[in-house]
Amino acid sequence: MQCSWKSMMLLALASIAIQYTAIRTFSTKPLSLLYSVGLAPTGHAVNCTPKDLTKVGQKTLGGSDQGCDETPSRTPSPPSSPSLDSNNTDKRTHILILATTRSGSSFVGQLFNQHPEMFYMFEPLYHVQLALLPRLSQSRNMAERRVMLGAARELLGSLYHCHLSSLESYIRPRPSNHSTYKLFRRGASRSLCSPPVCEAPLGQEGQSLVLADEGECVRRCGPLNLSLAAEVCRSKRHAAIKTVRIPQISDLRALIEDRRLNLKVVQLVRDPRGILASRIETFRDTYRLWRLWRATGRRPHNLDLGQINAVCEDFLKSVSTALSRPAWLRGRYMLLRYEDLARFPLKKARELYSFLGLDLDHSVKDWIINNTRGSSDLSSRQKFTTVRDSAANAENWRLKLSFDMVAYTQTACQPLLELLGYKRVLHPRELRNLSHSLVEDRTFHPFL
Ligand SMILES: *[C@@H]1O[C@H](CO)[C@@H](O)[C@H](O)[C@H]1NC(C)=O
Ligand SMILES: *[C@@H]1O[C@H](CO)[C@@H](O)[C@H](O)[C@H]1NC(C)=O
Ligand SMILES: *[C@@H]1O[C@H](CO)[C@@H](O)[C@H](O)[C@H]1NC(C)=O
Ligand SMILES: *[C@@H]1O[C@H](CO)[C@@H](O)[C@H](O)[C@H]1NC(C)=O
Ligand SMILES: *[C@@H]1O[C@H](CO)[C@@H](O)[C@H](O)[C@H]1NC(C)=O
Repeated sequence: MQCSWKSMMLLALASIAIQYTAIRTFSTKPLSLLYSVGLAPTGHAVNCTPKDLTKVGQKTLGGSDQGCDETPSRTPSPPSSPSLDSNNTDKRTHILILATTRSGSSFVGQLFNQHPEMFYMFEPLYHVQLALLPRLSQSRNMAERRVMLGAARELLGSLYHCHLSSLESYIRPRPSNHSTYKLFRRGASRSLCSPPVCEAPLGQEGQSLVLADEGECVRRCGPLNLSLAAEVCRSKRHAAIKTVRIPQISDLRALIEDRRLNLKVVQLVRDPRGILASRIETFRDTYRLWRLWRATGRRPHNLDLGQINAVCEDFLKSVSTALSRPAWLRGRYMLLRYEDLARFPLKKARELYSFLGLDLDHSVKDWIINNTRGSSDLSSRQKFTTVRDSAANAENWRLKLSFDMVAYTQTACQPLLELLGYKRVLHPRELRNLSHSLVEDRTFHPFL
């Protein structure tokens, strides 16, 4: 209750801001409207402890210096004037990975993070959610979601234009001198852990270092200088952002229609049964009743289907929208099934880059080869490393859920399973028999 009147205030203020934003449509300047209206998150909401969120990744210490947006070191191609699709060569491409938790989005993020000309950010919207709506994971309140989404779009627009300072008002504690230790999962972004942003002697000079683990970056790089990071962002030819905090593709329409932004969305989907199994392991509190079900064999009467229903509904709406090929999505949307990526990582990465009109850099290829079993489409050079054998993992949920749980989930998600080509199982024997895949061969061509 503590939080709720404050939320209402935020809501009221934010709706003004958002209406204004909607009218204005996104301009190149990030306008700090939300902040001027006083929405800039202050510590208010922080008492309400977020549950899921913090677990998604907690290594948040941080970076190195300070920053301001005024001095690009090298000017990248200007946020494209309408030199429409002639040549991508001097056109900055902005990429959004639209995903949900435990759908393989970190893996997809790496396909961009490894590219030397890419500025990659891992889940910057974490800060927005934490500041505005710490309880959003439990909240299905539409008004609250709209507030969060309005702020999220605003921030995404700013970040693609490298106005990293826009993020500052959401970070707790608030960065001083544009410097923070608290950027969420900084270590997941190569640009933020490499020179010039991080000068710590980590690897070969100038080489983008592959840090053994994210904490390493945070420990060795010192506070993150957001001004410096913004300069690096500008110096890169492209930018990619991963998020699990935007529910549906239609929530991004305003950004997609802003042609100056040249935004392309890669929607990552995964069999909801696989997502469920993975979340049960990862978000132990939220999915406590599911674990109880698995342990006792009896479905708790108060089991909350909310989360898994939300996954299926959001996927279904997004994918249906995209498959209906509305004009605003032309050339801007690609659907990627995690299972396909797991089976054919290199092939899928090529398709991805081809859709984006970018070169698949050899460092991306190397990373894939190093980090997947390289099954099917790679021949030799197979190695196991930190990232587990993703192909084997994609369907191992079949060994982790009871048949009842699977049956229950696939009933709730039936239309989605059909749409995406995931087969239902009708018998426990079929569930556990991994020699036949539940993933139908389907090709989802990008809408060009
Ligand atoms: C952060 O980087 C900017 C731009 O390079 C620099 O001017 C500033 O002094 C740095 N701040 C700190 C605290 O090092
Ligand atoms: C665009 O690319 C094509 C083929 O690579 C090339 O022939 C053409 O000169 C390029 N146009 C511009 C404006 O750079
Ligand atoms: C910010 O940086 C300036 C100049 O580098 C320094 O004088 C000041 O003490 C710093 N402020 C804080 C709060 O660190
Ligand atoms: C791949 O592995 C090799 C050998 O361990 C290493 O030298 C190389 O840097 C790795 N490349 C990438 C992109 O991870
Ligand atoms: C598993 O599935 C395969 C292919 O559908 C089938 O040939 C095999 O007999 C099944 N094994 C068992 C133990 O059911």
